[in-house]
Amino acid sequence: MNTQILTTTDTDIARAAALLKGGGLVAFPTETVYGIGANALDGDAVQKIFAAKGRPSDNPLIVHIADAAQLAPLVREIPENAQKLMDAFWPGPLTIVMKKSSLIPEFVSAGLDTVGIRIPKSETALRLLRACAMPVAAPSANTSGKPSPTNAKRVSDDLSGRIDAIIDGGSCDVGVESTVIDCSTAVPHLLRPGGVTYEQLTEVLGTVVQSFGGHSEGQTPKSPGMKYKHYAPSAQVVVVTDDFEGYVLKNAPKYQKAGVITRSLGAFPVNCEVRLFGSSPKEYAANLFEHLRSLDDAGAEIIFAEDIDCKGLNLATRNRLHRAAGLNSVKE
Ligand code: TXA
Ligand code: MG
Repeated sequence: MNTQILTTTDTDIARAAALLKGGGLVAFPTETVYGIGANALDGDAVQKIFAAKGRPSDNPLIVHIADAAQLAPLVREIPENAQKLMDAFWPGPLTIVMKKSSLIPEFVSAGLDTVGIRIPKSETALRLLRACAMPVAAPSANTSGKPSPTNAKRVSDDLSGRIDAIIDGGSCDVGVESTVIDCSTAVPHLLRPGGVTYEQLTEVLGTVVQSFGGHSEGQTPKSPGMKYKHYAPSAQVVVVTDDFEGYVLKNAPKYQKAGVITRSLGAFPVNCEVRLFGSSPKEYAANLFEHLRSLDDAGAEIIFAEDIDCKGLNLATRNRLHRAAGLNSVKE
């Protein structure tokens, strides 16, 4: 399959919408990461997403809509907590899990009786959703297990030849995926930290149970996606919690080439490829996935990353970083 690269002109958005309406797969930017979209109401189209990504079939997809008016037919009811979150954070990086209606194909919900839905904030995503006038199922546009793509080149690296088109809308603003919160139960559960912070959620809802984190073999996490190895480049990732520079000085020389993701430039050994994490939580989030991918390209055998705290947006970025490391971190 020849993957078309499209721009964000009205003509190209209309082309992308036509491809989606015809049952095709189109990657598009959102404010969080790029997604691969398919008509969410067409089970055959959605099934193709799983093949293109190599995604396990028990991992459900997020449904994207342009307008809150599109929500009612997709769910059995809109719980009070969901309504409060929609009012506060939509459009934006928040996916709300609710009981699904019979319109949602099995492939979208992966056999669960719920569906995760969001209105993205990205203008390009919204224009596409309006142009096709239907809900669009879209997981992150990476090969399953890899870091999510935050620009069109990374989508193309993973999926060129496997999807119909990619809309190049530049780099994503947030850089980590949406927050996933389950509102199908009386007490809301945070299933994946993301662009809307835990602090913002509790301000609106009061109690929110954190249901993510390290999952050992045999446990069934509430969000199926959290049980898989995720966000991982080819190089091994090591998160260093203390004396970052000292740890890298001691350990990097054991390798031909080491990658370093650091918050401040230091005296790193000459075999290190160094990337600046940034100087704010917003920058850490925006840079993480691209740094992991570019260090792979640079031939790093191992990536040493400086740990960050769990406050605000850092909770999401740190979650992705530790999962990229297979939940192993070292303390020097
Ligand atoms: O920011 C994002 O959310 C991006 C952009 C493209 O919108 N999408 C994204 O999709 O990250 P994906 O498929 O890579 O991650 C979706 C996560 C997975 O962990 C999945 O298990 C969880 O959301 N999820 C989806 N539907 C669910 C449901 N009904 N119940 C529990 N978890 C669900
Ligand atoms: Mg993903």
